[in-house]
Amino acid sequence: MSDADTPMVLADKVCKSFGSLEVLKGITLEVGRGEVACLIGPSGSGKSTFLRCVNHLEVVNAGRLYVDGDLIGYREKGDKLYEMSPKDAAKQRRDIGMVFQHFNLFPHRTALGNVIEAPIQVKKQNKREATQRARSLLDRVGLADKADTYPAQLSGGQQQRVAIARALAMEPKLMLFDEPTSALDPELVGEVLNVMRELAASGMTMLVVTHEMGFAREVADQLVFMDGGVVVEKGDPREVLANPQHERTQSFLSKLL
Ligand SMILES: Nc1ncnc2c1ncn2[C@@H]1O[C@H](COP(=O)(O)OP(=O)(O)OP(=O)(O)O)[C@@H](O)[C@H]1O
Ligand SMILES: [Mg+2]
Repeated sequence: MSDADTPMVLADKVCKSFGSLEVLKGITLEVGRGEVACLIGPSGSGKSTFLRCVNHLEVVNAGRLYVDGDLIGYREKGDKLYEMSPKDAAKQRRDIGMVFQHFNLFPHRTALGNVIEAPIQVKKQNKREATQRARSLLDRVGLADKADTYPAQLSGGQQQRVAIARALAMEPKLMLFDEPTSALDPELVGEVLNVMRELAASGMTMLVVTHEMGFAREVADQLVFMDGGVVVEKGDPREVLANPQHERTQSFLSKLL
């Protein structure tokens, strides 16, 4: 199901605990089609957990998550929710690309090998077609000449760009990024942000955990500040950054800048 008015991501009072530790205490937010939302907040505030809930790598304890109008991880029967089979959850996850802080490339595969893996194994694309698409994606992230290189021979920024190309190879409708530049040397951050900027300009919907405030200000439609498992404040990044309404946001931003 999908139509132009359905938000790409809709989180409705999402709660998540690990044992007695309540990590998400009712997260409500919306990301429209083609929008970029940046998620910021102190360590431990639940940013990664929230992203992991969006593609059902974590089960939620209460509340609902929808991607493109589809309830994530559960089927609704009457007023009851039943968790999906791992197979069905994996099927939903195919449409959601995820890029992590650590690139998690297959070390024994070349850049090209990494990018064609899922289209061939999961989407059953034939190798020629997958290879052709992978080359154009590597070109898009500026790595046309590195197709045959193994991850260990690539810089962190190059590895992360391969990871982005790999996620795009599945033709996702939503991309999740969890601090994609925070493990990189400062001089490599820009090349990854440039790829993300281009992706945003191409109309991809993106939910990005990042503390790159320049990127957030310039690219994001929405900046969401989380603390202690709740959304404290959200809005136009330029406004939130220039004029934070909550004391906790002010204090967090003052430490960041
Ligand atoms: N699998 C897990 N089991 C138990 N506790 C967990 C698990 N995953 C996360 N937590 C806890 O949940 C809380 C939120 O973690 P999360 O990784 O979502 O925070 P974060 O906002 O992404 O922080 P950071 O900025 O450091 O990445 C932390 O207290 C963490 O220890
Ligand atoms: Mg995190």
